[in-house]
Amino acid sequence: MKLFKTTFAEFLQFEALKNQTLKEDLSELILNIADSCKGIRKILSQGYLGGDLGAVVDINVQEEDQKKLDVISNSIILEYCAKGSSVKALASEEMEKPVVVAPRSGKYLMLFDPLDGSSNIDINGPVGTIISILPSSSCGDIEQDFLQPGSNQIAAIYVLYGPSTNLVLTLGNGTYEFTLSPVEDEFFLTGSKLEIPADTSEFDINSSNYRFWEKPVRRYIEECLEGKDGARGRDFNMRWVGAMVCDVHRVLSRGGTFMYPMDEKLRTKGGRLRLMYEANPMSFIIEQAGGLASTGYQRILEVQPTNLHQRIPVILGSKNEIELINSYHIDY
Ligand code: F6P
Repeated sequence: MKLFKTTFAEFLQFEALKNQTLKEDLSELILNIADSCKGIRKILSQGYLGGDLGAVVDINVQEEDQKKLDVISNSIILEYCAKGSSVKALASEEMEKPVVVAPRSGKYLMLFDPLDGSSNIDINGPVGTIISILPSSSCGDIEQDFLQPGSNQIAAIYVLYGPSTNLVLTLGNGTYEFTLSPVEDEFFLTGSKLEIPADTSEFDINSSNYRFWEKPVRRYIEECLEGKDGARGRDFNMRWVGAMVCDVHRVLSRGGTFMYPMDEKLRTKGGRLRLMYEANPMSFIIEQAGGLASTGYQRILEVQPTNLHQRIPVILGSKNEIELINSYHIDY
């Protein structure tokens, strides 16, 4: 891949010239986000030398184990982003209620999953950070203000902490990728207007949940597994990292389908992944790269949220495959 020596800050400056929504204060917030992720990267790089970062320290609002690194990452992001007068409030997977920063002057609402895929910490596997930025309305009730459909997002970002660190951003005019230089401690542009291939022969799902899936998902996966002897007439490959950021990055890089669909054991919760700080930002990024994101029944970005920590089924990736999976849901 050709390395353009455009820094993240320079990219935002160029973008501001053509993108009206990218006001100076939004650029500043996005730069703070990038800096906070550099801080998280540094702690992650210490690995076992940094102590037991995977140790469970509490239970979060999702009734899931909260690991030491989840808490540290949450604090780092708050330290960098909960300041100034442009952010009205921040909401996170790790906090039951939003943190209010500038209730009067704040123009932006930020939602984040500070450390996605934290079960990978113990095994030195990839993890990530996911961020969604919404415009704030004049609505007095801050929690209510957050409950906007994903189509309202003005920016979505994820950072993948893998062998290298990638920051992926959309501001609504394409999806861009940046790579962190460990020498210069700076993100550089490494991919512009990314495009997900419309066709794919790779799917991505936790197949241990097979018996709980709805019929349309079972049908799709069964047909993939039948390979060239079945309805699809070709062989498929399967992947599952268990960290959404990394699995979605694969889809973005070479096509594929990523699914955490509805299943019977998740039905009362609504699904596995969180709508507002996982599904929505990822759907925005994927759609801006020519892919699709749905629940099987509805475009994710059009779902009207009812709760900050709401969960939802997620089916996203290469356009033609997602259309096929959606059609199976309609048949069903
Ligand atoms: O945020 C939840 C998450 O860690 C995602 O990153 C990942 O896709 C999923 O959970 C993994 O779930 P499971 O442990 O069921 O495979």
